[in-house]
Amino acid sequence: MPNSPLYRNHAYAGSQKLAADDALPTGQPLPGLQRLANTSGKAGQFRAQITAEPKQVQLLAEHPTTVWLYNGSMPGPLIEVSEGDTVEIDFHNQLDRPSTIHWHGLATPPAQDGNPMDIVKAGASHQYRYTLPKGSAGTYWYHPHPHEETSEQVYRGLAGPMIVRAKSDPLAHLPEQHLVITDLRLADDGNIPPNTRADWNFNGRYGQFVLINGALRPHIQVDGTQRWRIWNACNARHLMLSLGGVPFTLVGTDGGLLEAPQLGVKQILLAPAERVELVVHAPATGGRHITLLAEPYNSMGDIRNRTANARVLASVEFPAQPVQRSVPEKLRAIEPLEDPSAFHTVVFSELTDLEIARANTIKSIYTPSPARTYVIAGRPYDMKRIDIEVKLDAVEEWEIINQSSMNMDHPFHVHGTQFQVIERVFNGRLTKEPFLAWRDVVNVRSGEVVRIRMVQGFEGMRMFHCHILEHEDLGMMGNLMVRKR
Ligand code: C2O
Ligand code: CU
Ligand code: CU
Repeated sequence: MPNSPLYRNHAYAGSQKLAADDALPTGQPLPGLQRLANTSGKAGQFRAQITAEPKQVQLLAEHPTTVWLYNGSMPGPLIEVSEGDTVEIDFHNQLDRPSTIHWHGLATPPAQDGNPMDIVKAGASHQYRYTLPKGSAGTYWYHPHPHEETSEQVYRGLAGPMIVRAKSDPLAHLPEQHLVITDLRLADDGNIPPNTRADWNFNGRYGQFVLINGALRPHIQVDGTQRWRIWNACNARHLMLSLGGVPFTLVGTDGGLLEAPQLGVKQILLAPAERVELVVHAPATGGRHITLLAEPYNSMGDIRNRTANARVLASVEFPAQPVQRSVPEKLRAIEPLEDPSAFHTVVFSELTDLEIARANTIKSIYTPSPARTYVIAGRPYDMKRIDIEVKLDAVEEWEIINQSSMNMDHPFHVHGTQFQVIERVFNGRLTKEPFLAWRDVVNVRSGEVVRIRMVQGFEGMRMFHCHILEHEDLGMMGNLMVRKR
């Protein structure tokens, strides 16, 4: 434990001066995503190579920045595949430390999912192989998942988008925009500084820059009604997205389309790791310019990251005669998950090292250390411990309880499947989920209880955790074991 990179970083954290808020260029056209080329000639097969390695990029005018990238692309290249495809990706780890690729949101066998116990050593290669099930069309992403080092590998640049397409798509007539939102903290000498004590102790690492496809406040030129896929690939930042009051249509969540479009939405919260599909229309008033905003949102009561003003993420421009495209009233059918055969409870909370030592759940008090450890049911993550036993192919209900003593949101994520939110209890009020949706992340506010249902379709060990990556690294993660029984 004392040699963990968490503590190594910690020793010299927080000493660097940050680059000025206007140090990066703004207003350039939204960069398109690089695509991962399919080298397979066979129908139904996707083959490719992904290399993780350090690369120098020129973000600041005077100083280069070393980032860690997949195939030299910031963000990583877009993987575009179809339901039914077999995916074979050779991963080459050219970092100086172990890594993995985790396929966030996909139903892959556990051995193919880049778990922290399945490390790919520095300099080594590994092939990931899985088949995309029918009904899995949606918006996913991939990122490293090494034990206690996920936060650093992601904030240094390792994260990429993935789209699974359906054979028939009711929105295929809409042109698409892809917006991968990441957070960047940059020092004035061009370095990406390590996490500070506050990043570890509170609601995670925030950068001074929020980028879309690697660019600060880009300009998005649209021809009319479009389908937007948005990824929150930030380490810790919740994004309360709006178009400055211009209504949009919500059509999809992490695991693909809703049953019916939700019209007239004015803002939507994307917790870290969450994705969304929107249909964006030209404003009814005929205006040509709108802005994509992150409205003020506090994931830690009123204590930290208090932002009085909305942050402009991008400017959007419509032509004088925007193309109007229609959205069908029915997108697809979603079967509700009913009659759970088992119930599980997950409690998120934070404990100080002293409290943990007192509770005797770990043996040593290490120094120097962050003052706080993030725990599930009072115990920090242990790679070998099974926290929850799950039955293969059965509907099971999970109750996620956020008992934060620090008024913090904790976005819950589980590997290997998509779930349905059933209801939420907050401030003594129970709210049934208004519509069916497939998700793999749900934000759980301090004091909130969220009930979800899921089916796990592969035997073996998987993880569930808070997707504030600093919390995950500090132990707010557990293992679930799926068995036939
Ligand atoms: Cu995107 Cu275990 O995470
Ligand atoms: Cu995941
Ligand atoms: Cu958390």
